[in-house]
Amino acid sequence: MQKLTGKTAVVTGGGSGIGLAIAQRFAREGAHVFITGRRQAELDNAVKQAEGSITAVQGDMTKEADLARLFTAVKAHKGTLDILVTNAGVSEPAMLHTITPAHYDKIFNLNARATLFTVQGALPLMPHGSAVVLIGSIAGFIGTPGYGVYGASKAATRAFSRTWTKELADRGVRVNTLSPGPIDTPMFDEVTDEMRKALTDMIPLGRLGKPEEVAAAALFLASDESSYIAGAELCIDGGMAQV
Ligand SMILES: NC(=O)c1ccc[n+]([C@@H]2O[C@H](COP(=O)([O-])OP(=O)(O)OC[C@H]3O[C@@H](n4cnc5c(N)ncnc54)[C@H](OP(=O)(O)O)[C@@H]3O)[C@@H](O)[C@H]2O)c1
Repeated sequence: MQKLTGKTAVVTGGGSGIGLAIAQRFAREGAHVFITGRRQAELDNAVKQAEGSITAVQGDMTKEADLARLFTAVKAHKGTLDILVTNAGVSEPAMLHTITPAHYDKIFNLNARATLFTVQGALPLMPHGSAVVLIGSIAGFIGTPGYGVYGASKAATRAFSRTWTKELADRGVRVNTLSPGPIDTPMFDEVTDEMRKALTDMIPLGRLGKPEEVAAAALFLASDESSYIAGAELCIDGGMAQV
């Protein structure tokens, strides 16, 4: 039985990697899914591959006008929004002594600031019983050299989900954070074989995760299967940050 029949979902950054896997899974489970991202070609491919209903609305989530256009489209086509996954994110390494204001702004503008304004923009459309899933990272609570700004931006999403769980309780909107460990997506394209091996050695399950494994957890947090889970962080990391 499909788990999201009749639901409407938004997945930001749904044209590649984890976001693509989440959007495809939600669509297979019966949801109508709106995806966003800056690259039209990636979005078109995602729509073409869909085994369900996916609508692409091209846009940059750091831009207010693009966010407004996204939610105007959702309202016009569906009226309400049951599930929001803030997945669009960026990761770039920089050790403390090399961090520039531009690096800081780029990471925080998308991972923290855009996450906040995406949720704020979606809320007027979200009825009682809706679910918000923020994509965090285990980098938000473990120390990884070179990922200070990225980790801090992901710790911000975790903090948002705690506060918003209380702020939105009266409206019946659940907020949870889904924090992946190393997942084999385009974000890993630049990683050398040596780094991949070093990383794999740190993971109890002995391999990188697959985007589909994160999508399965996103489905759980987005669906009524998790109806009594709020303000939590679910880690999909092969045990890396758990033991
Ligand atoms: N892969 C991992 O190991 C891992 C681990 C922990 C957490 N995460 C998190 O998981 C999420 C997805 O990452 P991924 O690994 O799937 O990498 P990815 O394939 O690079 O996905 C990032 C997505 O975000 C979109 N995006 C980037 N900037 C955007 C913007 N300004 N506006 C709208 N969309 C934007 C990208 O599309 P466009 O470029 O077309 O805009 C892309 O579809 C991120 O939040 C990341 O931090 C990943």
